[in-house]
Amino acid sequence: MAAISVQNLFKIFGKNPEKAFPLIEAGKSKDEILDETGNTIGINDASFEIKEKEMFVIMGLSGSGKSTVLRCLNRLIEPTKGTIKIGDENITEVSKDRLLELRRKRMSMVFQNFGLFPHRTVANNVEYGLEIGGMPKEERRKKAYEALEKVGLKGYEEQKPSELSGGMQQRVGLARALANDPEILLMDEAFSALDPLIRADMQDELLELQAEVNKTVVFITHDLDEALKIGDRIAIMKDGYVVQVGTPEEILTNPADDYVKAFVQNVDRTKVITAQAIMRKAPTIQIPKDGPSVAIRKMEKVGVSTTYVVDENRRLRGVVTIDDAIKLKEDGKKDLEEILMTDIESASPQTPINQLLPKAIEAKYPIAIIDDEKNLKGIVDRATILAELNENGNNAASDQDEPKSTDQ
Ligand SMILES: Nc1ncnc2c1ncn2[C@@H]1O[C@H](COP(=O)(O)OP(=O)(O)OP(=O)(O)O)[C@@H](O)[C@H]1O
Ligand SMILES: [Mg+2]
Repeated sequence: MAAISVQNLFKIFGKNPEKAFPLIEAGKSKDEILDETGNTIGINDASFEIKEKEMFVIMGLSGSGKSTVLRCLNRLIEPTKGTIKIGDENITEVSKDRLLELRRKRMSMVFQNFGLFPHRTVANNVEYGLEIGGMPKEERRKKAYEALEKVGLKGYEEQKPSELSGGMQQRVGLARALANDPEILLMDEAFSALDPLIRADMQDELLELQAEVNKTVVFITHDLDEALKIGDRIAIMKDGYVVQVGTPEEILTNPADDYVKAFVQNVDRTKVITAQAIMRKAPTIQIPKDGPSVAIRKMEKVGVSTTYVVDENRRLRGVVTIDDAIKLKEDGKKDLEEILMTDIESASPQTPINQLLPKAIEAKYPIAIIDDEKNLKGIVDRATILAELNENGNNAASDQDEPKSTDQ
């Protein structure tokens, strides 16, 4: 079951939201609808599902509806129309009391401006939600200290927020959100107020923390690099619409429209596109089953001069060349182990292209792509990597069309 499922969600801001619907149906734009009815479209027919324990990023330009979507998820904003389910609970229909309970127990929010109480200590800030929920003092203290330790703030529990740096204050915000052990973390531009280096650190820490706590995270940003780094999947919003949902690779390799294209054109694709996306099937033979005759026949059939050798569990053992195989056969021998070359370059399916390139330059044979069990998944050759790099270069070049200076 999806952790969160959003169906045909609309949010119309203004006095007469109903007036906007016929115009939406007539295909009028957000600006036209504002002109004609005075209503602002916050969300326009958004549907998407967020998987359990997924890092789901929502991105888009300012005003595209990101915060509105996030705030509908816990009904800090009331949707105008549509359904939102958290697990199997339709939260658009629950009572006020149940809603408060949901906000306290199942989901927590981390805000851009940290939202800390300046007069409370760090620990008191973290235990605030638990206090409201009526948890006894000792117990909530303990949970606050544990949450602070998780975010690397052990020792700072009794300080005031003002004594902490921006990055540390946001860690307090994160600890507070984690303290009640929610299923879902809602993070609205949580790192946008931090300076770039601290921000990059916080992104790394969030990924590490996520590996440990395994929450469903909905993370808003308008920074594409942040989205690509953090997101398992990314939803891109424009004028209240969700224009595309996909993995970082899907969005980079297959942008749904010009708006998404404009977003991704300056991205260094080589950092995001992985071996998995560009690998092809490897010619293979299996030892000890296959001998030189089979090896030669297979290589001749597909027109290659080397083949990859795997064992009976499909674990990569090495490569053999057609010349060596012919010689082995002429010598009347059968055991391919004798001519097996084991010194070959390999990489995991998740290796980004920019890390494959140095290997490809060194490698005599295409790089073997193997998983944790050493199973051969495919191969990537130098030409494929170079073609991808070129494509990236072309994308970047389209941005620099100012005339070049001629005075030197
Ligand atoms: N309370 C409100 N009343 C009226 N209009 C609103 C309200 N909140 C948001 N809007 C409008 O809804 C649209 C979506 O706003 P939202 O805040 O969700 O955008 P956003 O994508 O989060 O932008 P940003 O990146 O600037 O935070 C905008 O056109 C905005 O003007
Ligand atoms: Mg916003």
